[in-house]
Amino acid sequence: MSNPTELLKSRYGEVPFNPEIAWNESLTTLLTHRSVRSYLSDPLPPGTLETLVAAAQSASTSSNLQTWSVVAVEDPQRKEELSKLAGNQAHIRQVPLFLVWLADLARLSYVTDNRGFSHDALDYLESFVVATVDATLAAQNATVAAESLGLGTVYIGGIRNHPAEVAQILNLPPSVYAVFGLCVGYPNPEVPAAVKPRLPQEAVLHRETYKLTEQEEAIAHYNDIIKEFYTQQKMNIPGDWSEHSSKRVATVQSLNGRDRLREVLHSLGFQLR
Ligand SMILES: Cc1cc2nc3c(=O)[nH]c(=O)nc-3n(C[C@H](O)[C@H](O)[C@H](O)COP(=O)(O)O)c2cc1C
Repeated sequence: MSNPTELLKSRYGEVPFNPEIAWNESLTTLLTHRSVRSYLSDPLPPGTLETLVAAAQSASTSSNLQTWSVVAVEDPQRKEELSKLAGNQAHIRQVPLFLVWLADLARLSYVTDNRGFSHDALDYLESFVVATVDATLAAQNATVAAESLGLGTVYIGGIRNHPAEVAQILNLPPSVYAVFGLCVGYPNPEVPAAVKPRLPQEAVLHRETYKLTEQEEAIAHYNDIIKEFYTQQKMNIPGDWSEHSSKRVATVQSLNGRDRLREVLHSLGFQLR
């Protein structure tokens, strides 16, 4: 097992506190997460997909409604099409398994229809949020499970650039949309991915009540740490986290077509009342 102090140092760029609790393998897996964007084409061992789905189904789900599903894509042609729709992300083509996580109100709607009930509540934004959160929790459990098996992953929000086309390719019924994809495969050892430092806890952890302006010092400190990380990793990201993040949200163009998400979701059957 890796040394907890070393793991914390990679996660924050410095050792933020003394881990006094008894460390374990689960914590090691969580703290060593890093997105992988270069993969070997090696197939996954039999049973991997089913194990990842069992982990996903072990996540909490709002009222046990289980308003999510996942499409496992292994067909090279389908991965190619999804890769193009997600902004030509090469790793989608490389991985043996591309999982598309769905917020799924169709199954509940179907069950309710069969029982002769109405399903008015499904038309509200709240149900959309419930399904999106359910899908996200399930996906993250699968991600941690994959990483615990030595696999690499990267989420692909890029598939929300073209939700209607993705729905068509995956044959999604109304009231289902693809929240994000997840690449799963063996990391290419020749292109190792590093653990990316996160904001200091002083920025994200609030005790009793929320404080905004008090985060300034922690953000400034993080900017120094992440700039150093960008340089070390030769990441070609100009400026620091504040600059990079500000540019990411400065214009509607930076949403890559997702500014139309509400209307596309309407067309996919989500009323969002
Ligand atoms: C919902 C979601 C969508 C993401 N979409 C993409 C994507 O389309 N392409 C990509 O390369 N990385 C994507 N990422 C990965 C993030 O860029 C990455 O998690 C972040 O930079 C932190 O790096 P780390 O995961 O290595 O710690 C996504 C992450 C999340 C949570």
